[in-house]
Formats: sequence, structure tokens, C-alpha cells
Amino acid sequence: ALVSATEMLKKAKEGKYAVGAFNTNNLEWTKAILQGAQESNSPVMIQTSMGAAKYMGGYQVCYDLVKDLIDSMGITVPVALHLDHGEYEDALKCIEIGYTSVMFDGSHLPFEENLEKAKDVVAKAHAKGVSVECEVGSIGGEEDGIIGSGELADPAECKAMSETGIDFLAAGIGNIHGSYPENWSGLSFDRLAEIADVIDGKPMVLHGGSGIPLDQIQKAISLGVSKINVNTECQEVFAAATRKYIEEGKDLEGKGFDPRKLLAPGTTAVTELVKERIQWFGSNGKA
Ligand code: G3H
Ligand code: ZN
Repeated sequence: ALVSATEMLKKAKEGKYAVGAFNTNNLEWTKAILQGAQESNSPVMIQTSMGAAKYMGGYQVCYDLVKDLIDSMGITVPVALHLDHGEYEDALKCIEIGYTSVMFDGSHLPFEENLEKAKDVVAKAHAKGVSVECEVGSIGGEEDGIIGSGELADPAECKAMSETGIDFLAAGIGNIHGSYPENWSGLSFDRLAEIADVIDGKPMVLHGGSGIPLDQIQKAISLGVSKINVNTECQEVFAAATRKYIEEGKDLEGKGFDPRKLLAPGTTAVTELVKERIQWFGSNGKA
């Protein structure tokens, strides 16, 4: 069923596990993520960046696709459809259309403006039972053309943001979008703990989930992270499996060029990765 993320993340926080939030790009990925969650009996968040939603034909298409696949695939685990790194206008649009969760990312705005807009998104979202994620500080690296500086979030700002009534908070704690550089110093657990302390027990979100070692993932969960975003790793396994299929010449055998065959190995690879990450995050069996 399509549900808001508030309840699933609250349960995750209490149960000391995290829910995976996987970015989708098309029909195949959406099916792969839903199937991985169903096979793991796990709650899941499917998220579209603004760019991916545009690529897919708009927010309405994304909403209809997820909703219809839940029915046609017989998905029984809780699924939240979430807007990832949304601008203010996009967040409002998604609330309107039926997304069950939105991220308003005002981290690039002056802080006061980030707070004001967050308050407004919360009011409109909560009126429709939609959950809200906001961001303070900056996640490093690039995603969909948006480049973050990677500064650690200020706990006082995190506290002020949590008081706007948001449901969960994304904060920069040394995490980076995309792959991590060789000389990455790891997550700042001190800062994570300081922030978790002042946000009224709200779940925290770990962006840039691709490439963080399992021990750091587990420590982050133990300190209050309940949602972990994974995008780049899905792209990597999809590309690798597709490349292998083509390099082995499978597309040249029989009807191997049929798009349904051509896209199958990558799709299976995404399902397998989703299942593996669900195990890492501990949400398997928690549906
Ligand atoms: O918002 C999406 C995530 O933060 C994705 O990060 O591409 O490093 O997995 P990632
Ligand atoms: Zn992100």
C-alpha cells in the first residue's frame, strides 16, 4: 500500500533499523525496487529526483506508475513515494498529485528562508497526510546537477528546523553524493550525535548512502538514522550488468536485442542490490 513515511520511519527508529530510499528512473527500476522490498518483506521508499521525474514524463506519471504497479504486482509491503531534493514549487506539486512524502531541500537558501518555506510545506503536506523531510547543512558532491559543499550541519539550525514540524531531517554529517573519494574521513558521528540530541527524537536521513561501509551504516543507525538514500550504487550495478550482457554478445543471439531482454540483467541487478541493502539496513521482515 502507498503510505506516508512518518509511521514507517518512527517504527524504524524505535526498532533500530533504517528504511532504504531508492531513486527510480523508469519502469524497470520502479519494478526492481518494489520487487526487492516485497521479497524482503520490508517497508521501502521509492524516490524521484526532480530530474528523474521530468525524464519519466512528470510527477503524475511517476505517481500513477507506482500506484498501479503496487496493484498489478500484488505488493503488500508499505511503500512511500517520496520527492527527493525538491524545490518549494515541486514539493507543493507532488503534495497535490498524491506523493505520500516530500523532501523540500532549501539547504542552498539563506537559512531564514529555508525555515519559512519548510513551515509552509509542512502545513500543506500535513493537511493531506504527507510526510516532510528538510535539509540543513549541505551534502557534499553532485546530484542531478546540484552541487553541495559538504559542510557539517549546525546543531542549532537543526533544532530550529525540527521545530517547524518536519517529520525527518537530512543533515550534512560528512556524507557525500556519488562515490566517496579515497581520502574521505568518514561520517562525523560526533556531529550526528549532537544533532540527534536536539531534534526531539525525530528520525534522521542519511543521504549519499552509496559507498558507505557497513560498520559506519550500522553506527549511524544506532545514533538515530532511520532513512538511508541509495542512488549511485543502483546506477553502477545496472550499468555493469547491462555492459556484461552486451559484451558477451547476448544482444546478438536470437532475439537478445529485444528491449525486454536487453534491460533484464540490469533490472535483476537492481533488485539484488535493493535486497542486499535492505539486509544491511535491517528492515527485512519489518513490513
Ligand atoms: O538523495 C539521494 C541520495 O542522497 C543518493 O546518494 O547517489 O550517493 O547513493 P548516492
Ligand atoms: Zn541526496
